[in-house]
Amino acid sequence: MSDTVSVHPVPESWARTARVDAAGYEKLYGMSLADPGSFWLEQARRLDWIKRPEIAGDWSFDEADFRINWFADGKLNVAANCVDRHLAKRGDTIAIIWEPDAPDEEPRRFTYRQLHAEVCRLANVLKAQGVKKGDRVTIYMPMIPEAAFALLACARIGAIHSVVFGGFSPEALAGRITDCDSSVVITADEGRRGGKKVPLKTNVDAAAAHVSCLEKVIVVKATGGDIPMQEGRDLWYHEAAAEVPADCPIEPMGAEDPLFILYTSGSTGKPKGVLHSSGGYLLWASLTHELVFDYRPGQIYWCAADIGWVTGHSYIVYGPLANGGTTLMYEGVPNWPDASRIWQVVDRHKVEILYTAPTALRALMKEGDGYVTSTSRKSLRLLGSVGEPINPEAWRWYYDVVGEGRCPIVDTWWQTETGGQMITPLPGATPLKPGSATKPFPGVDPQVVDADGNVLHGATEGNLVIARSWPGQMRTVWGDHERFFQTYFSTYRGKYFTGDGCRRDEDGYYWITGRVDDVINVSGHRMGTAEVESALVLHPKVAEAAVVGMPHDIKGQGIYAYVTLNANCQADDALRAELIKWVRTEIGPIATPDALQFAPGLPKTRSGKIMRRILRKIAEGDVSSLGDTSTLADPSVVDDLVKNRVG
Ligand code: PRX
Repeated sequence: MSDTVSVHPVPESWARTARVDAAGYEKLYGMSLADPGSFWLEQARRLDWIKRPEIAGDWSFDEADFRINWFADGKLNVAANCVDRHLAKRGDTIAIIWEPDAPDEEPRRFTYRQLHAEVCRLANVLKAQGVKKGDRVTIYMPMIPEAAFALLACARIGAIHSVVFGGFSPEALAGRITDCDSSVVITADEGRRGGKKVPLKTNVDAAAAHVSCLEKVIVVKATGGDIPMQEGRDLWYHEAAAEVPADCPIEPMGAEDPLFILYTSGSTGKPKGVLHSSGGYLLWASLTHELVFDYRPGQIYWCAADIGWVTGHSYIVYGPLANGGTTLMYEGVPNWPDASRIWQVVDRHKVEILYTAPTALRALMKEGDGYVTSTSRKSLRLLGSVGEPINPEAWRWYYDVVGEGRCPIVDTWWQTETGGQMITPLPGATPLKPGSATKPFPGVDPQVVDADGNVLHGATEGNLVIARSWPGQMRTVWGDHERFFQTYFSTYRGKYFTGDGCRRDEDGYYWITGRVDDVINVSGHRMGTAEVESALVLHPKVAEAAVVGMPHDIKGQGIYAYVTLNANCQADDALRAELIKWVRTEIGPIATPDALQFAPGLPKTRSGKIMRRILRKIAEGDVSSLGDTSTLADPSVVDDLVKNRVG
C-alpha cells in the first residue's frame, strides 16, 4: 500500500510558515480528544459572543439519553460574527468579489462596510414582510451576491434559511418549501449559467401551485428578464429595499438556535432537512476554514461550489466571512465559454486558494492541458478538493499541471451533516498521498467498524463512524427527530454512522471508498436511489423501478435505472427518452439517468426484496461475478437483464 503510493512531504516553506505544523497538529489533536471541554471553550474564543459560553459539549448518542448540544449557555449572532465585528478593523477590506457568468462583464466587489449595508437592507425587507426569529425562509437563487446577503440577512434576524439549489425542479422546490413550512421565498427573475438562462421565478410560480404555506415571493432583478409578478404575493427586491434603512439591529441567538436547514438525499424516502445550529456550526466552519486553508485575511480565496450545497454555505459564506476573509463568488460554470475559464478567473482576481470538486477537474482534464498552460496561475498557493473521492489521476493532474507541483492539495472529506471538513490534510502538517483524505481534524474521532459494529484496529477496511460529537454536527432532521436518530445512530450503538466505507492504511491515513448505502454521488452531488425510483414510478407507464450507481469517467458515478413497464406498454427508444426527461423534470437535471434499461422483471428474493447487489454488478458491466443467484424467486430474470444491458 503505502510503499506503492507516492507520498508528498510537506514543503519546507509550508512547514515553517503555516499556522499548524506536524508537531502542532499532533498536539492540537491530542488535546482535542483528551480534554474536549477546555479545548472547545478555548476555541470558542475565536467567535464574538454576546454571552460567552461556559459549557462546551453536552451530548449522548445513546437512544435513552440522546442529545447534542454545544455551548448551550452561549449567545451570539452569526451575521454579526461574519460582518459587523470586522467593521472596525477591516471595514474597507473586500469581503465578496463577484465574478459574472460572462467574461466580458465587470466583476462586482463589496467591502465589509458595503456588505453590512446590503445585509441590513435585506434583513429589513424580510422584517417588513413579517419574518421573525425562528421563521423559515426559502432561498432559491442564482450565484449572485444577493444570495450571500440573503443567508446573512436571515441570520441577522434569527430566521432559519433553507437554500434550495437553483437547478432543482419546481416539484423539488415545492416539496422543500412545504416540508419546512416556509412562508417566504427569496428568488431572482432568472439565473445565468454558462450563457444559458435559468427560469427561477417561473419555477417558483410553478412550485407555488403545489404549496399552501407560501405568502410572499421577494424577487431580485438579476437579468431583467420579462417575468409575471403576482399582485399581493410578489415584490421586487430593489423596490422594497429602497423603502427600508441600511441598518438593522441583530437578534441575539442561543448557540443552539437553528441557523439553517439544508435538504439532502438519504437512502430512503424524501430528502431530509438537515438542521444546523448557530454557535457550533459557525465555530466549525470558521476554524476549519482557517486551518485547512491556512487562511489569512487579505488572501483571495475561491470556493467554486454553488451556494445551494453545504460547501457553498460553509466555505463561500460562513467560514471565510467569519474569518474576515475575501471570498470569491462565481456565477457561471468552470468550462464556459471554454475550458480555460476557471484558470482565467484565477488570474483575473489573483486567487491564492482554490477549492473545487473532482468532477470539474476530470471534465477539464479531458479537454487537454493547453487550456490550463495558456494561463498563468502564479497566484495559486493551495488547492482543495471536496465532494467525492478524487482519483489519483485527477489528483496528479491538479497537482502537476494546475499547481505546477508547487501547491499542496487538501482533499477534504465531509458531509452536509458534518457542517464542515472532518478528515483532511492541514497543508503545513500533513504529508499527502494522492487519493487519501489523510487524517482527522482536531476533535474528530473516526473509527472503522465491521458490519457488526466491531471496532477494527490498525490498517483495515470497513465502515466509517465517528465516535464522539463535534460542534459542527447537525442537530436534527427538520420535523423528524426520530428519523435523525434512526438514520445516523441506530446502526452502530453510540456512534454516528457516516454511510461511507473507508480504508485506513498503516500510517493511519483514511481512504474514503464511497457510500455503502443506497446513496449515489453524481458529480459530487448526493442522490438517493429511492428518490429517482419514486420519480420514475410516478409515470403512468411505469410499474416498478430500481436505480443503482454505475462508474462514470467524469461524474464519478452515473445513474443506472431499471424500469418495469405496466402491461401493454411498449418499451422503445421514444419511451426511454421520455422517462429520462421525466426524471429531469421531476427532480432536476442532476438526477438525469445516464442509462435506462427496460426490465421485464427485477431480481427479487422470495420475500420480494430487490437484490440490488446484482443490479449494481450488471450496471457496472461486471457480469462474470454475480454471486449466488439461487435464492432469487426467479433466477432467469438475471439472464435477461445481462443480455439487455445498456451502455
Ligand atoms: O461519500 C462522501 C462524499 O460525499 C458525501 C457527502 O455528500 P454531501 O453531503 O453532498 O456533501 C458534499 C460536500 C462535503 C460523503 O458521504 N465525499 C465528500 N467529500 C469526499 C467524499 N468522498 C471522498 N473524498 C472526499 N473528499
